[in-house]
Amino acid sequence: MTSITLVAPDDFDGFRVAARALIAAGTPPAAVTWRVAGGDGDLFGGDASPAGAAELRVPKAFPDLARRVICHSDPERFALLHALLVALQARPKLLEDSADPGVRRLDEMAKAVGRDVHKMRAFVRFREVPDDRGEHYAAWFEPEHHIVRYNSGFFTRRFTTMRFSILTPELCLHWDGETASFSPGATKAEAPDGDPIEATWKTYYASIFNPARLKIDAMTSEMPKKYWKNLPEAELIPDLIAGAGARVQTMLDAGAERPPATTIDGLRAEASACQRCPLWQPATQTVFGEGPADAALMFVGEQPGDQEDIAGRPFVGPAGQVFDAALAEAGIDRRRAYVSNAVKHFKFEPRGKRRIHAKPDTGEINACRWWLDAERAALKPRIIVALGATAARAVTGKAVTISKVRGVPSIQADGSELWITIHPSYLLRIEDPAQAAAERVRFVEELKAVAARLG
Ligand code: URA
Repeated sequence: MTSITLVAPDDFDGFRVAARALIAAGTPPAAVTWRVAGGDGDLFGGDASPAGAAELRVPKAFPDLARRVICHSDPERFALLHALLVALQARPKLLEDSADPGVRRLDEMAKAVGRDVHKMRAFVRFREVPDDRGEHYAAWFEPEHHIVRYNSGFFTRRFTTMRFSILTPELCLHWDGETASFSPGATKAEAPDGDPIEATWKTYYASIFNPARLKIDAMTSEMPKKYWKNLPEAELIPDLIAGAGARVQTMLDAGAERPPATTIDGLRAEASACQRCPLWQPATQTVFGEGPADAALMFVGEQPGDQEDIAGRPFVGPAGQVFDAALAEAGIDRRRAYVSNAVKHFKFEPRGKRRIHAKPDTGEINACRWWLDAERAALKPRIIVALGATAARAVTGKAVTISKVRGVPSIQADGSELWITIHPSYLLRIEDPAQAAAERVRFVEELKAVAARLG
């Protein structure tokens, strides 16, 4: 049995060197025990040195996965990663096989670490504890996994100008404005208690709390109760919940607009009676977005056309056919995406018996953003694809030149990744066949890039 001792529970570099040497020596995962020591030392010298090691096949996605998995608190993580690395030598594409039980387990561990990382970013609250060098802030946090070092870059980048310490039971992070350092874990008693900053948090939280959108289950899952004890604003929650009903009534009495529903079905029902701009009058019906309520991918078009207005569904007419064919070629299953429009009513000019598409103006786009924003909030898509300039304006809130931004994703304030491309109907308008074919290829390539981002 080979015994490997890592210097810390999140010792990724140590793991990497040791695993490389183990694989070079042909040591099977079952013949290795992994331990974590408290101290330091030359743990990977001698036989475990990677010198002379054979070329290891390490797919690009592995280091990122391993870096997160290493932070998991499961003691089996090193052996699982070692076994995966061994398996990858024979099956380099194994990581793409999400049905493989080993890959699945490691993916789940990486996700659990990701959630913990996110919670730490969301729930760390600094308190002012001046020291002999002046202003200094400290916070207490209890992570589930070994994420302090992994998360340190986020805090030092975000609070670069502030001297601070984040104390946790296992490892403490310190930032002096220039350098990050770590010290052994602390106890909660060593962390400071309330100070004036708490009052600021409380005021802020009370002011952003919207009683009409109160969903206690969702709130407690986003902000689990175990973190409440370290959040100054959590003290307010019981009272805010208790007073929510009365505050909603006061808001409505004062003429405030009722906030939109928080589910796609609820929104669709509300939008069916929309009169936020005059476009509802000549249109047959509201054409709301459609697709799974948990879709990771959202497409935003311009507005329903003649056929969509009659069918009550987006992208079913000629542009829809171009769209469907391009999606199929790019390997995107439309049934798994949510497809919507910037404007939900058909705007047209009557010409004899025909209804000719008319472009929505900025006022109409802005009026309809109420629904688009609510759809985004309900859906929380990972990726949004804006098809054309109207969609791009509706999603970003500003005028956009497609040729300048297409193919280059940008992160939106809600965390979604926005891709802007052409509207499929543009392909129908190009007269030169060669140019139309080239533009179509480019459009499909962009959709393929989106598909690759989705994974
Ligand atoms: N064009 C759009 O932008 N959306 C539709 O739903 C149909 C055509």
